[in-house]
Amino acid sequence: MIEVTVLSQDLKDAEADLLAVGAFEGEPLGQLLRRDWGFINHVNEVCDKERFTAALDQQLLVHLPDFGCRRLLLVGLGNKDNYSPLLARRFGAEVARAANARHLTSAVVALPRGTVGETANLLAQGIALASYRFDRYRRQSDGPSLTDVKLLASDTKALRAGLARAQATSHAISAARDLVNEPAETMTPQAMADYARKMAKERGLECRVLGAKDCEKLGMGLYLAVARGSSQPPRLIHLIYRGTGRGRRALVGKGVTFDSGGLSLKPSTSMLDMKTDMAGAAAVIGAMSALPALGVEGEVHGIIAATENMISGDAYRLGDVYRGMNGTSVEIHNTDAEGRLTLADALAYALSFEPDELIDLATLTGACMIALGPRIAGVMGNNQRLVDRVLAAGQSTGEDLWQLPLPEHLKEMLKSDIADLKNVGERWGGALTAGLFLQSFVGDTPWVHIDIAGPSSASKAYEHVNKGGTGFGVATLLAYLTK
Ligand code: BES
Ligand code: MN
Ligand code: ZN
Repeated sequence: MIEVTVLSQDLKDAEADLLAVGAFEGEPLGQLLRRDWGFINHVNEVCDKERFTAALDQQLLVHLPDFGCRRLLLVGLGNKDNYSPLLARRFGAEVARAANARHLTSAVVALPRGTVGETANLLAQGIALASYRFDRYRRQSDGPSLTDVKLLASDTKALRAGLARAQATSHAISAARDLVNEPAETMTPQAMADYARKMAKERGLECRVLGAKDCEKLGMGLYLAVARGSSQPPRLIHLIYRGTGRGRRALVGKGVTFDSGGLSLKPSTSMLDMKTDMAGAAAVIGAMSALPALGVEGEVHGIIAATENMISGDAYRLGDVYRGMNGTSVEIHNTDAEGRLTLADALAYALSFEPDELIDLATLTGACMIALGPRIAGVMGNNQRLVDRVLAAGQSTGEDLWQLPLPEHLKEMLKSDIADLKNVGERWGGALTAGLFLQSFVGDTPWVHIDIAGPSSASKAYEHVNKGGTGFGVATLLAYLTK
């Protein structure tokens, strides 16, 4: 993981492969580059010849023969009036990608405008997250990459605080990406529990792990029904952070380490990505790991009912009826609607600790991706004030969230002939009936459900996001918890 620090010497004395500077349209370079650095006339000339206008994402690389930083990278930040702090993260990501593509290992990056702490935070996150690699299964790495990044900025308390926040946040997001990218063969429920336990020990959190027997005693028949078909034993993971101050919040993550669909077996192409069906759990574990460093107030519980959804002679069947921890009986109409069953018991378990607020993240429905596309998460909830706070948290981090309704009239679709509920509705409105199913397990506790089936993994890189697991949700959770 890259560490971004502050440049402590004069730029003229600094040695680096790259100096990166963000530029706005219509802004003369004289405002960005100091005359005494010597290369300004040369750079102005190249800019003219190459028609560099500083349009958003435009880049220009200029070699600096007589300077300690051997190349200058100008990155367009577009129109000054459209500037938002999130552009600093995009700028950082572009710098990192440009450097890594050329196998450059050191860079000095000029801090763009904006509030120093928040700008440094986002810039450093962009650099670290765009540099993320999952290469532990490769014989050869992609070659040298950026390791040493220094910010050209005055060293203030606000700057250092921003960099510390960036470090905690990008670590948390990278951890979530690692968990998602790891194949299901190794990222089993037990492995996830081991990871959580080790992380908890390092960060001073409490970690409890419940096995099948414990869950049976608690009456978690829905969660255990899903787990039956797998030879990997289920693990209920419960992380606890105790900050100073009041309030108790619970985060629940869907932790299906592989979703074959069960007897309602998925076709091969839909199954291929199903190691990522624990991305909600990964976001919760990642976010929990950052709470001590961020000094979050109050108590936070992270809860994951981890299991595989597999087939075997003992797998749960269609038409079976199982009873959950809160007493609700559910008739199984599709074993591929397993996430909501595991979440129902995880939510009931969370409620037993009487949280003031409850948020779940889950790769729950393909229908949510149909509705909102691959980059936007669906948000549902029983308390508009909490929904609004979660939406605002998402907005502040650039994670795209969109509220979907929980229409009363669709509850009909979940009626069973012989049990309290069935586990699927009809095809239309699949994300909403999944939300309604969960809602029936949370009672009056303010609750928000985030369906991250789309944005939890990316089919190609963009901005600070890489292909594969994205760590989506970590940033939103951290913004929600720190406000
Ligand atoms: N894990 C899937 C949802 C999913 C689909 C996540 C695509 C990521 C990408 C979930 O368990 C599932 O299979 N949902 C079914 C529900 C249906 C049977 C009601 C679906 O969306 O098809
Ligand atoms: Mn499924
Ligand atoms: Zn699933």
